[in-house]
Amino acid sequence: MLFGGKGSIGLDIGSSYIKAVKLKEAKGGYELELFNVHPLPPELIVDGSIIDSLRLVDSLKEMITTAGIKAKNAVISISGHSSVIIKRISLPEMTEEELSESIKFEAEQYVPFDIEDVNLDFQIIGPKDEPGQMDVILVAVKKDIINEYINVVREAGLNPIIVDIDSFALENMYGTNYEVELDRNIALLNIGASTINMSILKGGISVFTRDSSLGSNLHTEALQREFNLSYENAERLKRGESVENVSPEDAKGVIESASEEILNEIIRSFDYYRSTTVHEDISEVILSGGCALIGNFAAMIAERSGVETRIADPFKNIKIPKKFDMSGIEEIAPIMAVAVGLALRKQGDR
Ligand SMILES: Nc1ncnc2c1ncn2[C@@H]1O[C@H](COP(=O)(O)OP(=O)(O)OP(=O)(O)O)[C@@H](O)[C@H]1O
Ligand SMILES: [Mg+2]
Repeated sequence: MLFGGKGSIGLDIGSSYIKAVKLKEAKGGYELELFNVHPLPPELIVDGSIIDSLRLVDSLKEMITTAGIKAKNAVISISGHSSVIIKRISLPEMTEEELSESIKFEAEQYVPFDIEDVNLDFQIIGPKDEPGQMDVILVAVKKDIINEYINVVREAGLNPIIVDIDSFALENMYGTNYEVELDRNIALLNIGASTINMSILKGGISVFTRDSSLGSNLHTEALQREFNLSYENAERLKRGESVENVSPEDAKGVIESASEEILNEIIRSFDYYRSTTVHEDISEVILSGGCALIGNFAAMIAERSGVETRIADPFKNIKIPKKFDMSGIEEIAPIMAVAVGLALRKQGDR
């Protein structure tokens, strides 16, 4: 490492903020080494696709400078229902090597894209109740999307060593910070500006994932329309500032009705999960992403779904040295969930 940057940085490139987290191993766990959030101009990334790579590279470079990022290696991630397919499938029992060879063939019927256009990966979860069958998590990601992200990160001067999936990073974050509860099903919900990542864990193992393209942009757009505001001002209003004579109190109703739209999607996904699996009901929701910071969003989920909802604390088991502004971190911790999960990954991980 020429630049003395040991280890890799977790870089969550969202459509509204880039989040960076670096951890180091400390006695019995992890310690925070670097933490940064960098806002992105709107419309550089739309629907998980990079629309303006030049400006995204500039933003990344800016962040690297302001955050003092010395590490060269980065772990990044991708999400979104239009470019990532994650499915739990049932296959005849075979070894990992055997599946590596036949995965393309097996995947074909589950992936709605040309199989040559995707990178495939899988994880064998274990034997099924039916003899001779096994459960496998199949992951297919469009190659062009992976390449877009890899190129941007390289252009910004970093070396992308792992391209992860947002919902897997969330599971990683959860596994490090929370006790695995064998008989409870936990729904991890990460709701950013334009994407919902949902992952349901049973005994710590993922049994269901789903991405939808909805998020807190709905709040921003509703505020823009209602009060005739610019994107920037609507964002400030959403975060609780008064703008152009509109107070957060005035904005409350508009925010709540946009939240209803997002809630409908969540409830639909929960219903779908309940209708397609034999697993028991959801016991708890752990909410992360920008939506977790919106007034009573967590309470609204709890009320509508009937499931106890907690806001994620991605730094629950991570030591935060005194040099960091603790209250600043606490304030936005829920949006760091994916970045923490990425920072936990090690080179050589699958
Ligand atoms: N304090 C706050 N109060 C309300 N909303 C906030 C606050 N801070 C951020 N947000 C909103 O959260 C969203 C950003 O969250 P997050 O970083 O999880 O999204 P993202 O990862 O950039 O987006 P995506 O993954 O959907 O592309 C933005 O829409 C932003 O306006
Ligand atoms: Mg995100």
